[in-house]
Amino acid sequence: MRREDFGKGFVWGSAVSSLQTEGFIQEGGRGKSIWEHFYDEDPKRIQHTHGDPFRACGSYRLYPHDIAMLTGAGFGHYRFSLSWPRIMPSGSKYLNKRGLAYYNVMIDHMLARGITPWVTLYHWDLPQALQEKGGWQKRDIIHRLEEFAYVAGRYFGDRVKNWMVLNEPSVFTGAGYLLGIHAPGVRGLDPFLHAAHHAVLAQAAGARVLRETVPDAHIGTTFSWTHFEPLSQASYHRKAADRLDALINRYFLEPALGMGYPDEAARILHRLGHQLAPYDNRLMAFDFDFIGIQAYTRQIAAAAPWQPVIRSRIIPAEKRKVPLTAMQWEDHPEALGKTLLALHLRYPQLPPVYVTENGIGLEEVPGDLNDSRRIAYYSKAIESMHRAMREGANVQGYFAWSLLDNLEWAEGYKPKFGLVQVDFNSLERRPKQSWHWFREFLGGA
Ligand code: GAL
Repeated sequence: MRREDFGKGFVWGSAVSSLQTEGFIQEGGRGKSIWEHFYDEDPKRIQHTHGDPFRACGSYRLYPHDIAMLTGAGFGHYRFSLSWPRIMPSGSKYLNKRGLAYYNVMIDHMLARGITPWVTLYHWDLPQALQEKGGWQKRDIIHRLEEFAYVAGRYFGDRVKNWMVLNEPSVFTGAGYLLGIHAPGVRGLDPFLHAAHHAVLAQAAGARVLRETVPDAHIGTTFSWTHFEPLSQASYHRKAADRLDALINRYFLEPALGMGYPDEAARILHRLGHQLAPYDNRLMAFDFDFIGIQAYTRQIAAAAPWQPVIRSRIIPAEKRKVPLTAMQWEDHPEALGKTLLALHLRYPQLPPVYVTENGIGLEEVPGDLNDSRRIAYYSKAIESMHRAMREGANVQGYFAWSLLDNLEWAEGYKPKFGLVQVDFNSLERRPKQSWHWFREFLGGA
């Protein structure tokens, strides 16, 4: 597999997010996010922190080193997110000039070095002040996100042309409002259904604001996509896999494509008495320029008639005797190609796709830079992506998650996803073998 096989215009980049990498959360007038509050309430909610979980990679000050790592490997594109509490410490109205200045300088710095910015508006660090008003459970969050989109577009839109409204709405609503294992730690079907519906409305609303504010913007939003396979070809297992696919994947994409909620999900919503406001179906749609797909693994689904509502279950990877990653996910890089192909076959109207995240979390010890397992994962994943493209999938770019080892949310610093190792004491960066592998592949400096 060679870079040329993907064509000249194909985008190669790497991705990070604000809370996972920036650190220095007390500096520059940043407000508090739901993650600090979530941790302060119960420090056990974030594992493997080595002290301060939010120290992260210190990219707030050290970003020039990160950009040097990108250019060194031959990447031309950087996906990062804007910290809402840095820009609007109380979530709304008051703008923090120092927060705006930070991103202005960082964007100029990367442009000067030939790196194209790809900005995610919301990658899960909601200002705590907004959570206190109900967060994603309240419809007002849509207007707050519109306000944030307007500010971001006004201040950075002259230089930033590639935008993603949300990062993985299924994950931040599922983990944050259904299971309670991510901030804000809310648990329950009702909070989840509300949060999910508002996220689906917000992804289109934010995109509309960006379209008006940055007329030449290239606008997308990102979806986590789990490739579901049935336990066997028995029709009850196949139907179970379809139900999970509808609720976990299609639930968030199809409304954006103007298809409303998938039928299976709509039936469940109806049974739960969840009401859509008039016109919501129309408001959930937006003519996105691209869709970001983030695929890491596959899950095996089985029928479970005793399970309320969903009547399906996921057979955990650790019970299947398959190779596992540090996330306890199956090490199955081909899931990427399978996902891309399945999306292509199911949705003829799908806009161009960018793989906005893909990678593998491994347990690694400081100083050991030989991550041959990561190289094997990337080469198979990229090969499977190419196969999907040969079969017709319109994929235009790929971002490796992640450039740096960073704060893996509730899992803390145990799973390492970086191409570059970060020493969390000295904050020194050291390229791993996988970074060298990309440099070879991309023809870096
Ligand atoms: C995604 C998320 C990233 C990163 C990655 C690895 O769900 O967007 O922030 O944590 O998974 O688990």
